[in-house]
Amino acid sequence: MKTPIEAFAPAKINLTLHVTGQRADGYHLLDSLVVFADLGDRLTLTPGPKMSMGITGPFADGVPCDARNLAWRAAELADWTGHIALDKQLPHGAGIGGGSSDAGAVLRALGSNADALQLGADVPVCRLARASRMSGIGEELAPIEFGEEIGAILVNPGVHVPTPAMFKALESKQNPAMPDIPTQGGLGKLMHWLDQQRNDLQVPAISAQPVMGQVLSALDATNPYLSRMSGSGATCFALYESPESAKFHAAQLQDLHPAWWVRATLLR
Ligand code: C5P
Repeated sequence: MKTPIEAFAPAKINLTLHVTGQRADGYHLLDSLVVFADLGDRLTLTPGPKMSMGITGPFADGVPCDARNLAWRAAELADWTGHIALDKQLPHGAGIGGGSSDAGAVLRALGSNADALQLGADVPVCRLARASRMSGIGEELAPIEFGEEIGAILVNPGVHVPTPAMFKALESKQNPAMPDIPTQGGLGKLMHWLDQQRNDLQVPAISAQPVMGQVLSALDATNPYLSRMSGSGATCFALYESPESAKFHAAQLQDLHPAWWVRATLLR
C-alpha cells in the first residue's frame, strides 16, 4: 500500500493586478503582486493504477470529479495516477485561485516541473505558492520577501464574475506597470505603496456585479490600510495593521452580512 501524499492549496490573492498589454493570441500581459493566505483547499493523493477523484467540503457543489477538474489534469500532466480527495474550503471562480491553486498544489506535491502554464495563467504562481511579482501572462515569476505576514480579511458575496468578460470590458489594455516593490521599510511603507497601485479589472467587475461595490464599502468602513478586489473578482480583501484587527473586523462584518463568505487570514 503506497503512502498518501497531503497537499495544501492556499488562496491566491492579487494585491495588485495591472493589465499592461495584450498579446496577438488575445491573452493579456499582467504585472501583479501575488501573495498566499493561510486558508485553502486540502488534497490527499493516494497512488493507484487509474485516476479517480472525490470532493467534500463547503464548496464541493458543482465541482467536477473528472478530467474537467484542473487538479485531475495537473496529475495527468505530472504523469501520476491514483485517487485525489479534494476538501474544497474556498469559493471557486472567485478570483482567489480556486482550481488553479488545487492544480498548483498537485504539481508541487508530486515534484513536477511540467509546463504549468498550459493548465492556466495562474497555475505557475500557484505551484510556487510564494509571494511573487508575476508578469507576462503569468509565466514570469520573481519571488518577493516581505519579512512580515499581513493581517487581512477576505470577503466573497457569492456572485460569479466571468474572467474573459472582465478582460474584454477593459477600457484600456495598455496601462502602466508597477514601480519597484518596497521590500525594506516595513508594513507601513508597503501599504502606502500598495495604496497607489491598482486592480485594473475592478471597475469592469463592479459594473458587472454592483454588490462588489457594497463589499468594498463595507470593508472600507472598518478603516483598513486598503481594500481591493483580487483577480477578476468577486472576492475582495482588506489589509490591517495587525492580525487581531483583521479577526475583530471579520467577526463584525460576518454578523452584519451573514450571507457573505467572510474570513480573517494571514497573507504571506
Ligand atoms: O488562464 P486562465 O484559464 O486562468 O484564464 C481564463 C481566461 O482569462 C482566459 O481564457 C483569457 O480569456 C483570460 N486571461 C487573459 N490573460 C491572462 C489570463 C487570463 O486574457 N493573462
